[in-house]
Amino acid sequence: MTAWDTWPLLKQLEATVEENLERHLASADDWMPHEYVPWGEGRNFAVLGGEPWSAEQSRLSPTARAALELNLLTEDNLPSYHAELGSTFGRQGAWGVWVNRWTAEEGRHASCIRDYLLVTRGADPDRLERDRMATLQAGWDSGGKPLLHACAYVSFQELATRVSHRNTGGYCEDPIAEKLLTRIAMDENLHMIFYRNLVQAALEIAPSQTLRAIADAVAGFVMPGSVVPGFARKAVQIAQAGIYDLRVHHDDVIMPLLRHWRVFDAAGLDADGEQAQQDLAAALEALDARAARFVQRRAEAQAAHPTGQNG
Ligand SMILES: [Fe+2]
Ligand SMILES: [Fe+2]
Repeated sequence: MTAWDTWPLLKQLEATVEENLERHLASADDWMPHEYVPWGEGRNFAVLGGEPWSAEQSRLSPTARAALELNLLTEDNLPSYHAELGSTFGRQGAWGVWVNRWTAEEGRHASCIRDYLLVTRGADPDRLERDRMATLQAGWDSGGKPLLHACAYVSFQELATRVSHRNTGGYCEDPIAEKLLTRIAMDENLHMIFYRNLVQAALEIAPSQTLRAIADAVAGFVMPGSVVPGFARKAVQIAQAGIYDLRVHHDDVIMPLLRHWRVFDAAGLDADGEQAQQDLAAALEALDARAARFVQRRAEAQAAHPTGQNG
């Protein structure tokens, strides 16, 4: 049995995939990751007669390092994402071409962030490697999502990754890191557009099912980095710094896509579709309320301890 037998929508969406693959290939730059790394700063570690790593060698703040490490380890888990996408989208036709092209582009992200961190001594290399091993062994299991659920999830996830890289770049206060992360964020943006267009087409083919997929993706969104060792602690640190928090997630990731898809204007819905629309509205309200509480608590904590806010 092929993936097309499981989900006839794969066949119905193939023309959209083909069209967007062509558009993507025409707009994606063949950028060179080695051009973003300050190789001249590199030096040996202890085993090769150099200096062992220590935190004060880094020009990045602890929070900037935590954000870069989390972004890197999330990117590192690419073999799992490749396997998940391959089994959901299949290997046939334009879907298969997209999965491999996307994987090749994503492969640059981890390698150049790692090169940057090692060369600039921005991460403890032993811990980073142990965390990479743990992350890949944990793997990433998307829970066997149906096709439309996978497309909705990756739309949000690619945009979340773009925002996270871009905001991390701004926070680093290092022009080299910022240039590198801005470059990566441009890739993530193109990935987001690819999936956003697929969901747009799916809304026309199967509006109720697609709305259900979007509502579930919003309500149950989990970052792929959640399997990284120390994720909860790093995520709090990153949220406290405003690099990626619930407000950013609601305002800069969830809402722009929902507005683009005009989810609350969708026509031709059956009872399930209308229910999905109501569930989505409730999930948004809950997310917005959680975001407001988080921002308020953070402001109160920062007012009480004004010097403790910049890690
Ligand atoms: Fe990436
Ligand atoms: Fe991406």
